[in-house]
Amino acid sequence: MGRKFFVGGNWKCNGTTEQVKKIVSTLNGGEVPSQDVVEVVISPPFVFLPLVKEALRPDFHVAAQNCWVKKGGAFTGEVSAEMLVNLSIPWVIIGHSERRLMLKESNEFVGDKVAYALSQGLKVIACIGETLEQREAGSTVEVVAAQTKAIAAKVSNWADVVLAYEPVWAIGTGKVATPAQAQEVHSELRKWLQANVSPEVAASTRIIYGGSVTAANCKELAAQPDVDGFLVGGASLKSRSSLTLSSLL
Ligand code: G3H
Repeated sequence: MGRKFFVGGNWKCNGTTEQVKKIVSTLNGGEVPSQDVVEVVISPPFVFLPLVKEALRPDFHVAAQNCWVKKGGAFTGEVSAEMLVNLSIPWVIIGHSERRLMLKESNEFVGDKVAYALSQGLKVIACIGETLEQREAGSTVEVVAAQTKAIAAKVSNWADVVLAYEPVWAIGTGKVATPAQAQEVHSELRKWLQANVSPEVAASTRIIYGGSVTAANCKELAAQPDVDGFLVGGASLKSRSSLTLSSLL
């Protein structure tokens, strides 16, 4: 079963209204393959979601960068999955390493968030990845397997899940994983899904790579058999960001 290539642009905690309008305008004018071939999802900060959703070309979609772990209520500062659904936001990023590490989101908490978001009808970009220390200790596969296991423990339907492998040491550092390093981990993840979830889920789930992806390095990465797309941070925001994103497609 073919896996449609996926390109996500994660703007993280960046942007002004003017910058957002400029990037969206460039994205709208970019030449990209048909959405039958590539799925493009742009993830602005919460406050810009309505603006981006309204202004963005209809073949591109939007994602929130997080949502609360359960039904909304007395949780000051949080945004619930129900609210995203109410605004017709189709996607959400969950478990980004910046939240895992700085906000201490545990594997179990991330698993609960993925499950709740899916239960409300959102599609999820679920992020996993090892730190430099973990890689140097030789525990990369063990770490990403444990992160995936915590998600698999709570999720029965993987149809709306994209798994984003983002080695922490490659995020925002300019030290992109080599195509061989990315392929090795993606292949191990697919084997893990095959053994622990099902061969069907292993074959159909998109495993995308994130970490210092640019127009210059994306082609070799994309040529790897188990790399099904990218989650792009910094390169999706630079002044020529949209052109950069277009050139990733
Ligand atoms: O979500 C995106 C990743 O954190 C990658 O960020 O492309 O700036 O390294 P980066």
